[in-house]
Amino acid sequence: MSGHGTPIPMTSHPCGPLKGEAHVPGDKSISHRALILGAMCVGETHITGLLEGEDVLDTGKAMAAFGATVTNHGGGEWTVTGVGVGGFAEPEQVIDCGNSGTGVRLIMGAMATSPITVTFTGDASLNGRPMGRVTDPLALFGTQTVGRAGGRLPMTLVGAVDPVPVRYVVPVPSAQVKSAVLLAGLNAPGQTVVIEKEATRDHTERMLQGFGATLTVEETAEGRVITLDGQPELSPQTIIVPRDPSSAAFPVCAAIITPGSDVLVPNIGLNPTRAGLFTTLQGMGADLVFENMREEGGEPVADLRAKFSPDLRGVVVPPERAASMIDEYPVLSVVAAFAEGVTDMQGVKELRVKESDRIDAMAKGLRAAGVTVDEGPDWWKVTGLGHGNVPGGATVESELDHRIAMAFMVMGMATQNPVSVDDGSPIATSFPIFEELMGGLGALLVRTNP
Ligand code: S3P
Repeated sequence: MSGHGTPIPMTSHPCGPLKGEAHVPGDKSISHRALILGAMCVGETHITGLLEGEDVLDTGKAMAAFGATVTNHGGGEWTVTGVGVGGFAEPEQVIDCGNSGTGVRLIMGAMATSPITVTFTGDASLNGRPMGRVTDPLALFGTQTVGRAGGRLPMTLVGAVDPVPVRYVVPVPSAQVKSAVLLAGLNAPGQTVVIEKEATRDHTERMLQGFGATLTVEETAEGRVITLDGQPELSPQTIIVPRDPSSAAFPVCAAIITPGSDVLVPNIGLNPTRAGLFTTLQGMGADLVFENMREEGGEPVADLRAKFSPDLRGVVVPPERAASMIDEYPVLSVVAAFAEGVTDMQGVKELRVKESDRIDAMAKGLRAAGVTVDEGPDWWKVTGLGHGNVPGGATVESELDHRIAMAFMVMGMATQNPVSVDDGSPIATSFPIFEELMGGLGALLVRTNP
């Protein structure tokens, strides 16, 4: 788990062109869901390409604590022998989800309608994040919760003994909340209906259908209406996890800002609910090409080629695109620093409750590196300096947030002076091979002494 060990200070030095193929790890969102749904069906689910980052490994341990058999066969190949919907055993120990909001919120949903009592905790970042957004709708099923002030972990959930189905309009654009309600709905009789006003990543819906649940999605004036029939018999699946577009974002953005670069990132998941960054980068004038578009395991996939893009310009990123690139704003703000003009990112209040307050963490670091940032509660603007003109020369706090650490490592590849982070250890939560992979392309990342 990150944030519990020794900090790893890291420095990124300006480097030459980045060249080659970047084989980024498996999709984090899909990996969590594969382990959880694998644990909720009877029989053996076979997963290839699982992300073996700390977040997902913590979810795997949790599923084992609930009674599933989770086996690592090496090389990203895993099997999960599930206990069936409603079959979770009560864990003997506290469930520690480390740094992972997705892990804890999805698992809370999955256990909420089983007659078991579970205590959840996490690292300092996770224990500061709001859980009321999940426990409020779970209470409608009959789940009881006792937690710390402000709905924070550590927290104990007492699963509903006689769950009732729920109709819930998700008040914030959050795939984690939507997914928690759907997973809880699995063990409630009748139909559970979740309505989201803005579409968020739909991996849970796709995977539930893949596992044999009856789930329909309707676009209505009220929003996206998702209806799930409760108490299905889920059947085990073979799941091929595509590579994570949110991890691909780092080598792609690094190539775009580093002179002379040409990087191919193969097999990237391009689910439209995840692809907003690439649309934005193209709007900024980035040289980005999708090759070999295809479908694999129920998800659209392509190979992405990113080249150095000397004429980037600032853009307005509209609020309706936020959900499809919510994890990519930190690295987008770095690209924006190398563009001409202002990049205006709107409707991004959710960024304030991620692993860190990402607007605050990025604004502090960008300013320290010589870039002007303006911010409000749900928007921020970065004034680009153009290629070759970004000073760098700062040491930034990563605030237990993997994406803040990686964004600043990318920045240092093209600034005038190196950029450092106080602690790169959180990178292991989602992208354990980041240093090796970026180094292989030509980046100059070094671990530095505190
Ligand atoms: C995720 C949903 C998003 C995202 C997170 C992964 C998921 O969080 O930021 O990294 O897998 O459902 P929210 O649901 O809080 O928007």
